[in-house]
Amino acid sequence: MLSKKLQDIQNQAQKEINEATTLEALYQVKVRFLGKQGELTLIMKDMGGLSKEERPAFGKLVNEVKQAVTTLHDEKESQLARVEMDKKLSEEELDLTLPGPYLPNGSEHLIAKVMNEIVDILARVGFSVRTGPLIETDFYNFTALNIPADHPSRDMQDTFYIDGEHVLRTHTSPIQIRTMQTEKPPIRILAPGGVFRHDYDASHSPHFHQIEALLVDKNVSMADLKGTISYFIREFFGKNIKTRFRPSFFPFTEPSAEVDCSCPLCQGKGCKMCKHTGWIEIGGSGLVHPNVFKAAGLDPEEWQGFAFGFGIERMAIIKYGVSDIRLFMENDTRFLEQFK
Ligand code: DAH
Repeated sequence: MLSKKLQDIQNQAQKEINEATTLEALYQVKVRFLGKQGELTLIMKDMGGLSKEERPAFGKLVNEVKQAVTTLHDEKESQLARVEMDKKLSEEELDLTLPGPYLPNGSEHLIAKVMNEIVDILARVGFSVRTGPLIETDFYNFTALNIPADHPSRDMQDTFYIDGEHVLRTHTSPIQIRTMQTEKPPIRILAPGGVFRHDYDASHSPHFHQIEALLVDKNVSMADLKGTISYFIREFFGKNIKTRFRPSFFPFTEPSAEVDCSCPLCQGKGCKMCKHTGWIEIGGSGLVHPNVFKAAGLDPEEWQGFAFGFGIERMAIIKYGVSDIRLFMENDTRFLEQFK
């Protein structure tokens, strides 16, 4: 009786497989005969009526039928898959001339771009790049630069202290000392990099960037400093921006001068960006102080030098008309993409 039923199932399965015209219909046939609740699975449960001796032979028979149905199914499946693919290929058109999906390209950050521009200009007159650590010791950041213990820049208000001995460098000037300690004059170096100060508003960010320059040689004067800076500003900003030197004070230079550029946003008439002065300060400069030479192990009787340190964001603001220093850190691609 059972083998008759098995034979019927096999015949029915073969018939339905032959008649299936789509992969979906074939799948339904597979589920009905070979699935967990399929007829060829359920028939095993009917074996209860058979004697112990008959059971193994019947089980073997069921497996053979399953195998036969599976083989038939698989052949039909690949045949139908071929048919469906052929149909799809003949019906659907592929327009190879259509543009592909838009993949946005990244761009160099404006700060990196400005740093590279500055380095390129000063490389033409013999300066090459040096770097230093972001975490500095009190010695390199302050003491060796002739900054006394009670100087306001050492105040916790301005400086991020890591511990009593270490700070996040507040300027790139410590690289002057590191270079003079390890290299013999004549020296012409540039040190671009990030610096940190406790400050935050439209024109101050707690993390910003500077570029430091140091030249050490014999018979260096203020004329060399002004000549080099004027050359650089002309090359970087072009003719439209005016430059002025203002007498100033820094512990590590004597004499010292601050460097200002005319405000490009208001053409010098006065606006919020330039605090209504018509000028934007880009950094400080001066002749290397004898105490700085001594701290770095050079004889101030033998060597002279000039140095300057400019704010990269300030220069980017002036050259590219950026209205808020905070835009540099927000990583808004609409801002960044304008400077590709
Ligand atoms: N380190 C100074 C600052 O961050 C800028 C500076 C002034 C650098 C004069 C110099 C210099 O090299 O000579 O405010």
